[in-house]
Amino acid sequence: MYTQSFNVPDSPGLKSVPVAPSTENPELQARFDSRIDADGKIEPQDWMPEAYRKTLVRQISQHAHSEIVGMLPEGNWISRAPSLKRKAILIAKVQDEGGHGLYLYSAAETLGTSRDQMLDGLHSGKAKYSSIFNYPTLNWADVGVVGWLVDGAAIMNQIPLCRCSYGPYARAMIRVCKEESFHQRQGYEALLVMMKGTAEQKAMVQDAVNRFWWKCLAMFGPPDADSAHSVQAMRWGIKRISNDDLRQKFIDATVPQAKVLGVTLPDPDLKWNEERQHHDYGQIDWDEFWSTVNGNGPCNKERLATRVKAHKDGQWVRDAALAYSRKQQTKTTKEAA
Ligand SMILES: [Fe+2]
Ligand SMILES: [Fe+2]
Repeated sequence: MYTQSFNVPDSPGLKSVPVAPSTENPELQARFDSRIDADGKIEPQDWMPEAYRKTLVRQISQHAHSEIVGMLPEGNWISRAPSLKRKAILIAKVQDEGGHGLYLYSAAETLGTSRDQMLDGLHSGKAKYSSIFNYPTLNWADVGVVGWLVDGAAIMNQIPLCRCSYGPYARAMIRVCKEESFHQRQGYEALLVMMKGTAEQKAMVQDAVNRFWWKCLAMFGPPDADSAHSVQAMRWGIKRISNDDLRQKFIDATVPQAKVLGVTLPDPDLKWNEERQHHDYGQIDWDEFWSTVNGNGPCNKERLATRVKAHKDGQWVRDAALAYSRKQQTKTTKEAA
């Protein structure tokens, strides 16, 4: 999954980068600028301004963290899926998210930051991840809604990233987006089945939509006017579409889907505006968003504790893999001698 526009600052220690263009080396800077202006790709071996590098490390690592923390709310439901078919689909989806994390950590590593450094940032609570995963999945309908709306919002955010100016990130996103599309459709299909069921099942779907709708709108990040990093990220070809424009696209795409599904989106101000040719919508609670981003959501502590425990429990696997790799290297060296 997922992004919250990926331009929220990390906590002190992994602080956001200066937005002024680099003056480190005017000649290399000019070459970099012209490549960006021509819509070309920047590759790991190319010179790049330090601020561009740091912005990408922050964005890609926040994205990677979101993928692996995003495995947790849905992973909770693997053992409680209502049928073998749904269990197999959910296992595949959660596994995909782990894979997305791996592609993204690898892409960030090409910028010179190690995976250990990035994971330290996550485990110490300094690095951010998408705030949506700090909310609980209370019942099976939540799993469907996460697929439909959370993965749906992720796709909207991530498709423009396939054209990101940094080559390894852009290429990783192509495969990620294809898989996110499957995630979105499996969620929507699961909900369609529930909406053909009992009154109780229909009420569960509506309740899940009510709880997730506003949080999904906040996933696109703060309004453009409050989004300090966005202008520079757009100049660098990292970000292609503004937070508010992406949010609007998501709302316009989702309203007809909600109608087909037979649920109401919980916003009395949501209506088609003929003049704008878009839907108008109500106020997002940004205080709640920032409070959750800053560690005070209902599941922040639980998510972090689960991640830290998983990392500690996996230490012996990393040790064994390293020992094996060293053994192989020694063997190869001896054979070559
Ligand atoms: Fe994902
Ligand atoms: Fe996903």
